[in-house]
Amino acid sequence: MTVHISENFPKIIKDFYLYDESASDGSAHQPIDLPFEIDRSALLVDAKKLPWDMSHAIRRFEIVKREDDVAGTDRTLNNRQPVTAQIDFNEFKAIGKLINDLNSIGPVTYMSFKNMLPGEYLEPHMDSLYGPLSIYIPITWPSGCYFKVYKQGFVDFSDLKPNIVDTGGHVHSVINDSNEERYTFSFYCDWQSPGWNKILAGTKINYNN
Ligand SMILES: [Fe+2]
Repeated sequence: MTVHISENFPKIIKDFYLYDESASDGSAHQPIDLPFEIDRSALLVDAKKLPWDMSHAIRRFEIVKREDDVAGTDRTLNNRQPVTAQIDFNEFKAIGKLINDLNSIGPVTYMSFKNMLPGEYLEPHMDSLYGPLSIYIPITWPSGCYFKVYKQGFVDFSDLKPNIVDTGGHVHSVINDSNEERYTFSFYCDWQSPGWNKILAGTKINYNN
C-alpha cells in the first residue's frame, strides 16, 4: 500500500510513504490481544493531564525514572534498580490500572505516553536504546495517522488494536496527517517472562533477522 500525504511534509517523508509499496508479512509487526479491557476514554482524560516533556521530537511522558545513577546507560534497568513513578496513581487512576494490568502478564519496563500534534512526523529511523521489540497501544488514532515500517507495510492500528513492533530492527516513520492530536502508550517488557513470552510466541515476529 502507498499513500499520498500532505504537501507540507518534507520530501523524505513523502517519498517514504509514496514509493514503498510493501505489505506486512507479520515478521516486523503484528496486532496482539491483551487479556483485559483498556478504557481508552479514561486513559485519554489522564493523558491530557500529564506534565508533558517537550524536549523531544514529539511530546512524551515517561512513567518511571530510575532512582540511582550507577554506571551504564539510564535506559537500562534490572530487578535491583529501584524506579520512581513520576505521577501519583491516585490522581491518574486509569494509567495506574493499565500498568497493573500489564504487569499481571509479566514485568513491563520503559513506559511512555506520546502525543503527536497535527502535521508532526518522525523521520525514518530505528530505535536502539531500549530493546528490539516494543508494544504500542493507540489511545487515539485519527484517520490520517500512519506508522510505516520500511518494506513491511503499515502497522495495523485499525480498531485501536495494540501491536508488537520490531522498532529496533526495522526502519520506521510515524506521521500525523490529520487535524487531531494523536495519543499512544508504548512500553517494553520482559519477553522471557512466561506471560509475555506466550504472547510473542503467538505471533510471527522475527526479531533476529
Ligand atoms: Fe521509533
